[in-house]
Amino acid sequence: MTVPTHSNALNIAVTQDAMASFSKASDPRLAHVMSLLVKHLHAFVNESQLSKAEWLKGLEFLTAAAKITDDERNEFSLFSDIMGISSMVDVVSQPPGGTPSSVLGPFHNHDSHLQPNGSDLTHGQPGERVWLHGRVLDVHQNAIPNAQIDFWQNADNGLYPAQDAAQDPQNLRCKINCDANGGFSLLTIRPHPYTVPTDGPVGALLAASNRGIWRPAHFHIIVSAPGYVGLVTELFPAGSDYLDNDTVFGVRPGLIVDVKNCDNSEVAVQYGLTAPFKEVEFDFSLVKQA
Ligand code: BEZ
Ligand code: FE
Repeated sequence: MTVPTHSNALNIAVTQDAMASFSKASDPRLAHVMSLLVKHLHAFVNESQLSKAEWLKGLEFLTAAAKITDDERNEFSLFSDIMGISSMVDVVSQPPGGTPSSVLGPFHNHDSHLQPNGSDLTHGQPGERVWLHGRVLDVHQNAIPNAQIDFWQNADNGLYPAQDAAQDPQNLRCKINCDANGGFSLLTIRPHPYTVPTDGPVGALLAASNRGIWRPAHFHIIVSAPGYVGLVTELFPAGSDYLDNDTVFGVRPGLIVDVKNCDNSEVAVQYGLTAPFKEVEFDFSLVKQA
């Protein structure tokens, strides 16, 4: 298709002038990124032949996002997620060789309590028990000492504590210091698919676009260790609905995990389970800092 353009000379001049307007930034990276952003946004306006009414609609969308955003809820970050921008940033910023990264999402909480390795996070709540364990390794499969995992997920009703006043704010979340072999272990429940928040302008955009609003079931994990590039990622139990239709594009083939039957009697006794019970085993691989 030939894209109709208005006065080529004029729009090229506007783009060049706007790009150049950032060249005096004292931070050269700011100058580079802003100039490229202008270049691609102008190309979008030109290629789509955006009308004034459409641009106003866009501004109204951003204004509505600002109105609904506060310390607890960030509609701009959700917009980034459903546009696939968060995932693209993950893809381009993760060094090659380690476990793939995936979106952070809005429900991470920096103040998760440090729990002993092997903790039972279930505390009598409903949900299918899952023994989640594995190791934190370098890219050559050697154990990384002093690694830490930061873990969170949703409850059996599909909700995170921030969405559900009936849950303890620390429910199904923890930090764990791994053992000398990089090993970690915890008892949790099977997570569930859930919808991203749909009561703001992003929800209206998803509806108008006939797009899905669901995320597949997942565990969130941040893995860190001194001297290694930190990893923000997710594990997706195989067989979950929406694995091929995650509305925030977070699923990577290397992050889909089998939920296996396990008959380890020692672990069954440790957690008061009846074998066979469910097990997810996953080894994370971190890349050394440059
Ligand atoms: C989440 O995984 O919790 C999430 C990620 C992106 C947007 C909304 C929720
Ligand atoms: Fe999540």
